[in-house]
Amino acid sequence: MPSDLISRRDFLVKAAWSLAALNFGCSITSLKGDKSKTALIYATKYGATRDTAGWIRNGMSGEVDLLNIEDMSFHRTANGYDSFIVGSGVWIGGIHNRLLEFLTSQTEILDGKILATFIVCGTDGGTESGKKRISGYFDQFHAPLKRMPHMSDYFGGRIIVDQLTEEDREALIKFYRTFLKSELTSWDRTEPDRAGLFGKDAARLLSKVTGKNTFIKTAGSAG
Ligand SMILES: Cc1cc2nc3c(=O)[nH]c(=O)nc-3n(C[C@H](O)[C@H](O)[C@H](O)COP(=O)(O)O)c2cc1C
Repeated sequence: MPSDLISRRDFLVKAAWSLAALNFGCSITSLKGDKSKTALIYATKYGATRDTAGWIRNGMSGEVDLLNIEDMSFHRTANGYDSFIVGSGVWIGGIHNRLLEFLTSQTEILDGKILATFIVCGTDGGTESGKKRISGYFDQFHAPLKRMPHMSDYFGGRIIVDQLTEEDREALIKFYRTFLKSELTSWDRTEPDRAGLFGKDAARLLSKVTGKNTFIKTAGSAG
């Protein structure tokens, strides 16, 4: 694994633990049940985000339900779990509309329960402009939330030209010719190993937050 990935992961893990520590400074209240339920929700068009969610799930131990945003009831899902990990692909500068609808319509119920978010995209985060673009995707993703997730990361995606809809293929051919000065070809930059490590880190954080039958509330919040 390249060293820049290791240092970025270490940084993200440290940031996650610092945030958790900060939150633990707030009041901690017991959950009603014995067991915490976690949903890993993904929003995909061509499958790379579904695969990444599966690798994250494999990196976690314990029960985690893998849910496709297209197939789930918003209200039942938001009410049925104690914590959430949520991920989306990126298409033409935006994350999945239905995922944004879910986060926006269930903001109150989801408040404080979104442990981690991730995006799967084609942007190279190794450049300054790429970093900025990815940060913009996360801004859009997190805009409906009242509190930020403990962990966030992005992963490489995939384009298989033969699988694209005609509309998407034409848009991408134009984008590649105009901005990248190249022809559109298939590529696969998915990251099974790094996604697994993200899952492992999420599981550690989850057990810290909920494993002792506790959940985090900010000081002064109701209930
Ligand atoms: C029509 C289309 C538009 C895309 N636009 C962007 C984009 O604006 N920014 C980006 O970083 N990646 C973009 N990508 C790359 C996707 O994020 C990548 O293919 C990812 O794997 C998509 O997730 P999915 O495979 O789960 O559908 C685009 C891909 C497609 C097919």
